[in-house]
Amino acid sequence: MSGIIFFKTKSLDIIHHFYHYTLMMEVWLEQPNCYIYKKGNLLLGFLQSDTTETQGIITIFDQNKEVIENAYQQYLPLVIQDLAVNEKFNIYHFYISDPDGRKIEFQTFLHPLPAFKSADETLIERRSIRKFKDKAIEPELMNKVFEICRYSPTSRNSESFYYLVITNKDDIHWLSECRGRAGNPIKEAPMTVLVISDNTKTIRLEQDADIAATYFMLSAFSLGLGTCWITDMNKNEVKKHFEIPLDCHVSCAIPVGYPDEVHKIPLRREVDKFVKYDKFT
Ligand SMILES: Cc1cc2nc3c(=O)[nH]c(=O)nc-3n(C[C@H](O)[C@H](O)[C@H](O)COP(=O)(O)O)c2cc1C
Repeated sequence: MSGIIFFKTKSLDIIHHFYHYTLMMEVWLEQPNCYIYKKGNLLLGFLQSDTTETQGIITIFDQNKEVIENAYQQYLPLVIQDLAVNEKFNIYHFYISDPDGRKIEFQTFLHPLPAFKSADETLIERRSIRKFKDKAIEPELMNKVFEICRYSPTSRNSESFYYLVITNKDDIHWLSECRGRAGNPIKEAPMTVLVISDNTKTIRLEQDADIAATYFMLSAFSLGLGTCWITDMNKNEVKKHFEIPLDCHVSCAIPVGYPDEVHKIPLRREVDKFVKYDKFT
């Protein structure tokens, strides 16, 4: 199930202009005298009415402090309460007001969060992260990542994949050297995860492990962590070093940590450039 929060407004046109053009919220659904907007997993509806409802606070949040600081600069003329830390809730936030006088809060949480991203947001916004904060990842958070990874599909449901978590600094350094400069992100991160598939469980070693790696990266991102796919190292040396049976398959090494860089959504090919129908040529 999912949900929408609705407000009545006497000025739907003005509200539409504000939420769609000023706050850049996508119109998720348009109905007679009604707009429903989407921002991440927030669905927000406004209905033309004889009355205007302004109770409550609409909170828009992002995991990155920088995004909230940029929003603060962008909406400065609309600010009704300045950017500040609220120690009680451990958040960093500011308020603006919409044309009806509703309070809109922009905030970031200064602590880890449970998963909240919508599927499309997770798939579109994940980026390779190569700089990480000098901050250990809480074991409970990693557990949540792995709880999602349980559902990674495998050939014949073999459940052939394993994640080998490496936090020992010497091992991390050793692993980063295996891939030359392209392995640098490993050095930067507090943890690296090797994704492995077991040859005694599947003949589809590459597919099972590659999908498990993708699941791991997306799960980690949905929980606020950054990752990067590093491969092309001498896998036999990696196996020997970490005591992985030689017949197992190592898909990649994935450095993981709290991101210390923010990337915009990059330009990508339009759909008609890579989707073909009936014949490839
Ligand atoms: C199979 C594969 C191998 C990769 N190997 C490396 C690598 O060795 N080092 C690195 O920094 N990034 C590596 N990447 C990350 C890509 O450079 C990155 O995914 C690509 O530039 C697109 O950027 P994005 O992930 O932010 O969308 C690899 C990605 C894939 C899928």
